[in-house]
Amino acid sequence: MRVPILAGNWKMNKLPGEAVEFTRALRPLVLRYPNVETVVCPPFVDLPGVADALAGVKVGVGAQNCHWADSGAYTGEVSAPMLVGLADYVIVGHSERRQYFGETDEIVNKKVKAVLASKLRPILCVGEDLAQNEAGVTDTLVSGQLRAAFDGISAAQAREVVVAYEPIWAIGTGKTASAAVAERVCGVVVRGALADLYGSTVADAIRIQYGGSANEKNIAELMAMPDIDGALIGGASLKVDAFSEMVKLTAALC
Ligand code: PGA
Repeated sequence: MRVPILAGNWKMNKLPGEAVEFTRALRPLVLRYPNVETVVCPPFVDLPGVADALAGVKVGVGAQNCHWADSGAYTGEVSAPMLVGLADYVIVGHSERRQYFGETDEIVNKKVKAVLASKLRPILCVGEDLAQNEAGVTDTLVSGQLRAAFDGISAAQAREVVVAYEPIWAIGTGKTASAAVAERVCGVVVRGALADLYGSTVADAIRIQYGGSANEKNIAELMAMPDIDGALIGGASLKVDAFSEMVKLTAALC
């Protein structure tokens, strides 16, 4: 039985004060639905305030990135050990990181390892862009990203990972993959690749999110799919009403 997980990826939005205010407003609304795991992923500087506002309650906190080294001469970076106590999850390999900051599959793999070594849980993003989608290489690309990201990761560690399938053409565009398309990639491609790597028992325990213009209008249809265990939500997670409504609609399906 996989507990559904809805994670809000705030990206580069909300000042520290706004983040705390938002979190205080969101907290009572999502705590009504304990059968859904709700996670907020603010920018680094917002983490202390958000973590404080959620202390002692079952709403998770995630960072949006980290470096693979524990410490060192990496100006401007934040390491996984620095996030311990502030975050439960770390988003790794988001397409915006891959696209704008040159993150390769090899870097993503090093970050997954770093996050797990700090006993945090990666939300590992995979997904194809429009050209790859149109060229029909989605399945090969996504399974390749997964194999690379999980290289050297044990089955016990793999269970700690949440995978987010995010077709890049659907991110921030208002174009969602249809529930049937998202289900096929999440089930056949992602869970299929995980089963090849770790066997079906482990693959069946790993939660797979869909991401890309998920909102309060399409979440129920997406969450009704057997292999979609949650969503990584950008735009709609920045609004208390929209995000809490998504949690409510998801809870109604559990
Ligand atoms: P979106 O972003 O919901 O705004 O499309 C999703 C993401 O980038 O994780």
